[in-house]
Amino acid sequence: MSNKKYRRVTTHTLLEMKQRGEKISMLTGYDYSIAKIIDSSGIDIILVGDSASNVMAGHETTLPITLDQMIYHASSVVRGVKRSLVVVDLPFGSYQSDPKEALRSAIRIMKESGAHAVKMEGGSEIKDSIKKILNAGIPVMGHLGLTPQSIYKFGTYTVRAQENKEAKRLIEDAKLLDKLGCFGIVLEKIPASVSKKVTNAINIPVIGIGAGSDVDGQVLVTHDLVGLSTEFNPRFLRRYVDLNDIMSKAIKSYIKDVKNLNFPNKNEQY
Ligand code: KIV
Repeated sequence: MSNKKYRRVTTHTLLEMKQRGEKISMLTGYDYSIAKIIDSSGIDIILVGDSASNVMAGHETTLPITLDQMIYHASSVVRGVKRSLVVVDLPFGSYQSDPKEALRSAIRIMKESGAHAVKMEGGSEIKDSIKKILNAGIPVMGHLGLTPQSIYKFGTYTVRAQENKEAKRLIEDAKLLDKLGCFGIVLEKIPASVSKKVTNAINIPVIGIGAGSDVDGQVLVTHDLVGLSTEFNPRFLRRYVDLNDIMSKAIKSYIKDVKNLNFPNKNEQY
C-alpha cells in the first residue's frame, strides 16, 4: 500500500459503507509500529482504546489510564497511520463530571495527538457532554452495552441488555446518540438480537464486539486477535495467530544462541 494512492477513511466514508452494506473493520492500536502494520493491512478504523490500560500497562481495569497517557498512545498511533480513521477513547474521569471538562479533554486529544475523533462510553447521562464536543466540530463515537469504565457499577463483565428493560433503554440511547450527531456506535457484549434491532433502528454505523453479526462492522482488541494476551478468552474472540508462542520460541532461540556463542556470527559484526 505504501506506494499506492489511497483515500483516507473519514466519518462520511463509514456512513457510505453502512448505506451500501459494506462491513466496517476496526481494531485497537496503541503504538507506532503496530499501528503501521494495522493501517497498511487496510483496516478502516484504528481505535486507541483505553484497553491500553489492560494490555499495555497491565492494569486489571481501564479506569487507571490518564488523559496524558491516552494522548501519548494516540500520537504514537497517528504517526504510523496513512489511511485509517483514528478514534481515541476519552478515559475514565476526563468527561463524566461536566460538559466543559469533557470538551477540554476532547480538544486536548485532537490538538496534541492529531487523531480524528473521540469515543465516549454512555448514553443519555452524558448527552450534554456529547453535544458540547460535537458543537466544537469534534466527531464522537458512542459506546453502549458493556461499558468497561462502569465495571464497578456492573460488578461483572457478563453480557449486558439481556433483560427487556435494559435492552429497551439501550435502544433508546442508541437512537439518542444518532439524533445528537454521533458518527457511529460501538456495542459491546450484548445479545445478537438486540444489536440487530439497534442496527436497523439507526442511520449511523454500529460496530460490534461480542454483539453478533447483524451489525455494520466488527472491532477486536489487537492483542487478543494476535494472541499476545493469553488470559482473556471470551466466546466472541477469534485468535488468528498465536504470537505469544511465536515470540516465546524466537526469544528462547536467541537466548540459546547467546549462551552457545552462536550469536553474533562473523557476518553480524563490524
Ligand atoms: O478500549 C477498547 O479497546 C474498546 C473496545 C473493546 C471497543 O473500547
